[in-house]
Amino acid sequence: MSENLLEVKDLHVQYNTDDAVVYALNGVSLNLKEGEKLGLVGETGAGKTTLALSVLRLLPKVGQIASGSISYKGEELLDKPESYMLGLRGRRVSMIFQDPMTSLNPVKSVGDQIREVLDLHFPQLTKEAKNEKVDQMLQLVGIPASRKNEFPHQFSGGMKQRVVIAMALISQPELLLADEPTTALDVTIQAQIMALMGQLKDRFNTAVLLITHDLGLVAEFCDTVAVIYSGCIVESGTVEDIFSGKNNHPYTKGLIGCIPDLSKDEDRLHPIPGHMADARTLPSGCPFADRCANAMDKCRKERPEAFSEGTHTVFCHLFDNMRGGV
Ligand SMILES: Nc1ncnc2c1ncn2[C@@H]1O[C@H](COP(=O)(O)OP(=O)(O)O)[C@@H](O)[C@H]1O
Ligand SMILES: [Mg+2]
Repeated sequence: MSENLLEVKDLHVQYNTDDAVVYALNGVSLNLKEGEKLGLVGETGAGKTTLALSVLRLLPKVGQIASGSISYKGEELLDKPESYMLGLRGRRVSMIFQDPMTSLNPVKSVGDQIREVLDLHFPQLTKEAKNEKVDQMLQLVGIPASRKNEFPHQFSGGMKQRVVIAMALISQPELLLADEPTTALDVTIQAQIMALMGQLKDRFNTAVLLITHDLGLVAEFCDTVAVIYSGCIVESGTVEDIFSGKNNHPYTKGLIGCIPDLSKDEDRLHPIPGHMADARTLPSGCPFADRCANAMDKCRKERPEAFSEGTHTVFCHLFDNMRGGV
């Protein structure tokens, strides 16, 4: 039996809008093992949120899973009835949505909002048991239980995010999809929230898909990494594979160049020039070719095949000569 908790294979997702088709995911494959922390990294518009929403089958109406497979503990989710997904969402798989500040209800106390998750998924628990769990969870995320009757507007951004994390984890899910959980927060709060997620993850052995555009965060928090560009995974591997600096995809190199190196006296970072291609046209070759300093003719024409060494895989024509022959 496979030990993968989540297996996404060759997933194609598009948004059919009134004036165009947006090709958001173009053949994405990734695996996540039980208890593993996978960082999904890429710029805005790369398709990260689309991937997480696809797993929970929560795409907006215009979104369509055109082909591919998403299996969870060996079960194909794309074939399941909605009733199955209702039992999965928020119970076995939780999501921290990208805009945490709007995911709380302004007219309900934070304690009530956390308890509602238990009402939904653990109706058999007594009221007292639920209240006790809410108090414990609040304490775990660093909020005194005495504040449970307060409303979201009485909390700071970092505290609200702690409430959102409490809601996501109170059902002790097997998998947490965390979509840019700290992007809206300032840096010190960001560090506290990531430390908290790390502790909780270890305590409950929750697998985490951490969605971020910050490769530095991934280096600190994750076991494995998948780099996504224009709806295509361009590189994946363990954190060591990606940060060893060996055989990186040029896009990943660019992202690594955007991490400040405090040991060097550099006064500026090196952003990647150019923009991601318009998702209304499907890339025919490598999606990064137009921005790549190493691009060759074939990069614009042929989609690169995988070049793999152990746990490390990169999709780039620069490695064509190293592939095969072995
Ligand atoms: N509801 C939508 N309708 C049309 N296009 C969308 C919609 N949601 C996302 N997209 C497009 O899909 C692509 C991927 O978006 P998204 O998954 O949100 O990326 P990310 O989370 O990496 O920023 C982008 O080109 C985005 O504009
Ligand atoms: Mg997003």
